[in-house]
Amino acid sequence: MARVDNPRKTVFSCSECGASAAKWQGQCPGCGVWNTLVETVAEPTGGSQKRFAALAGTSSIQTLCEIEARDEDRLPTGIAEFDRALGGGLVSGAVVLIGGDPGIGKSTLLLQALSAMCMVREVLYVSGEESGQQIAMRARRLSLETRRLRFLAEINLEKILTILQSARPQVAVIDSIQTLWSEQLNSAPGSVAQVRECAAQLTRLAKQTGITVILVGHVTKEGALAGPRVLEHIVDTVLYFEGDTHSSFRLIRAVKNRYGAVNEIGVFAMTDKGLKGVSNPSAIFLSQHGSDVAGSCVLVTQEGTRPLLVEIQALVDQAHGNPRRLTVGLDAQRLAMLLAVLHRHAGIVCFDQDVFVNAVGGVKIVEPAADLAVLLAIVSSLKNRSLPAKLIVFGEVGLAGEVRPAPRGQERLKEAAKLGFTRAIIPEANQPRQAIAGIEVIPVRRVEEAVEALRGLE
Ligand code: TYD
Ligand code: MG
Repeated sequence: MARVDNPRKTVFSCSECGASAAKWQGQCPGCGVWNTLVETVAEPTGGSQKRFAALAGTSSIQTLCEIEARDEDRLPTGIAEFDRALGGGLVSGAVVLIGGDPGIGKSTLLLQALSAMCMVREVLYVSGEESGQQIAMRARRLSLETRRLRFLAEINLEKILTILQSARPQVAVIDSIQTLWSEQLNSAPGSVAQVRECAAQLTRLAKQTGITVILVGHVTKEGALAGPRVLEHIVDTVLYFEGDTHSSFRLIRAVKNRYGAVNEIGVFAMTDKGLKGVSNPSAIFLSQHGSDVAGSCVLVTQEGTRPLLVEIQALVDQAHGNPRRLTVGLDAQRLAMLLAVLHRHAGIVCFDQDVFVNAVGGVKIVEPAADLAVLLAIVSSLKNRSLPAKLIVFGEVGLAGEVRPAPRGQERLKEAAKLGFTRAIIPEANQPRQAIAGIEVIPVRRVEEAVEALRGLE
């Protein structure tokens, strides 16, 4: 569609192979893949409108040792758990993307952070989702400092860019990237094309001016940030908000960070006074049932630099029809693999059983060191016998039935001992050289040994 009022033309380009087409078509003319064409702004070749020229600068080849490497100055957000997830605070000129389900607390956290920062630096909250009145009311309810917290209700990208240019805040929050729209594109706000263009323009501005930009992004039903992960490549840091909306705990996890470690987490509790940091979170993901129940196994998982104890629950029940495998907070594909290993190497069959596995408290566990705990929870549920009290488990399981070591085994054991656990079934390679006071270690090399060890403990 040609637009008279806009000298810049849009074309459609393939997100797979980069081929372009003048108008939208279902199939890419280049690679033949379906539904990959998205609208983009056509770059005039030559001429004066080189959008990214300012970024290019003049560069020549250097050796790395000639380049002055200095630590980035950190701007603390005033919220310790948020700083921890960011790797020590915000960095000027960096672009941070915060993703999460609706209602999980993204706007609340950022409002609290801006309020904590507003007395020492210039901040701006741009909202396309809520009105100033709504935000002001929330701030008042949370008794937040708002005297220097500047607010703008706007969704037009070009206007936002102009205002940021002139207002020059040190930190700007854009809530959310999906509500913004650029005049240069015909697509609707929230479409891949708009999201990508708006994020790219804001990133460009951040790099040029040194404004730290925090983008809020909604997560699609499939759990990815909308705009098929395009944003993750553009920005410097990607944080995900996790947690069960039914529990009050929230985790904020870095999945990409150009300025710090990934998988470092911040832990919060949602209270009636907003999000409160939880500085010693290791025991919050243990369900508090009094007596021991079958199908429950306590895992010590490592999140960044912190060991966390998480209860893994399994329910194995007679299937009617096709047996189902369902996981919450754990990888479903990995569950299928673990069941195969259990059958092949320990002779325990679940063909005719539904298997459900859940990590308590809405925490998402990605590390393979959870394998052994998942398996033992399944065995416990299948046999309808609870695991011994005060037992913790960790270890990765391989296809050959071997139990592989987990990183930072010592720290995991120490944390478990600190919380009063007295026994640990762990990979032999993680066995500490010196005994850890209060905890008896049962080292295993193979899955069948681990199952056997349970019998010995009964
Ligand atoms: P919000 O920050 O609006 O979520 P997002 O921006 O991620 O969509 O989250 C608000 C939710 O948190 C809402 O469901 C109510 C709850 N909440 C509290 O429990 N206590 C509070 O003090 C606030 C502000 C919100
Ligand atoms: Mg919100």
